Amino acid sequence: MSKIVVIAGSPNPASRLNGLIGSAVRRWQQAGIETGTIQVAELPAEALLSARYAESAIAEAVSAVEQADGVVIAGPVYKAAYSGLLKSFLDLLPQTGLAGKIALPLFIGGTIAHLLSVEYALKPVISALGGRHVLGGVYAVDQWVNRLEDGGFALSEELQGRLDRAADELAEELRWLEYRRSRQPAHAAE
Ligand SMILES: Cc1cc2nc3c(=O)[nH]c(=O)nc-3n(C[C@H](O)[C@H](O)[C@H](O)COP(=O)(O)O)c2cc1C
Repeated sequence: MSKIVVIAGSPNPASRLNGLIGSAVRRWQQAGIETGTIQVAELPAEALLSARYAESAIAEAVSAVEQADGVVIAGPVYKAAYSGLLKSFLDLLPQTGLAGKIALPLFIGGTIAHLLSVEYALKPVISALGGRHVLGGVYAVDQWVNRLEDGGFALSEELQGRLDRAADELAEELRWLEYRRSRQPAHAAE
């Protein structure tokens, strides 16, 4: 059974990024895929910034990534790149922490002008962590995500369509991964 973990790297607890994440997570859960979210901002800050790997919350978060087959790297665009918060967690992953996993970038920015930050900033980091299978992902402009009075979010129709397709693509890739693994001789998986 495949697992997805979302690494959510916004320092803002009420970020519109949560609207993207929530929608995608609901879709995966409806498809019967186990999904967890690491809100990096909720990890103990001192342990995160001093790279105290042994601290239980940090070790658990790193282990959740190790155990996942699909890793969603979600964050706001800050100063034309990923947030420092997101990077502080990615820096704690083992050297090839994304090897063999399918990565899906999910980014939100104030302007479409920074769409390519996923390509020039995030993708080299995924590659450095051994990630070789990176899906196209979704870039949203924050105006396309509206906060609702009940605390939820409404996404523009166009964004919702792209997000649904990206979520379905990851689900489909995970099914293929599972199928390939099921056909491997037992010793090859060791
Ligand atoms: C410190 C900071 C730097 C930002 N830099 C950029 C930027 O360089 N490019 C961009 O498109 N948006 C930038 N933004 C806008 C955020 O990406 C955008 O507002 C956010 O992702 C939307 O989430 P929110 O609901 O938390 O505001 C910046 C926001 C902050 C707070």
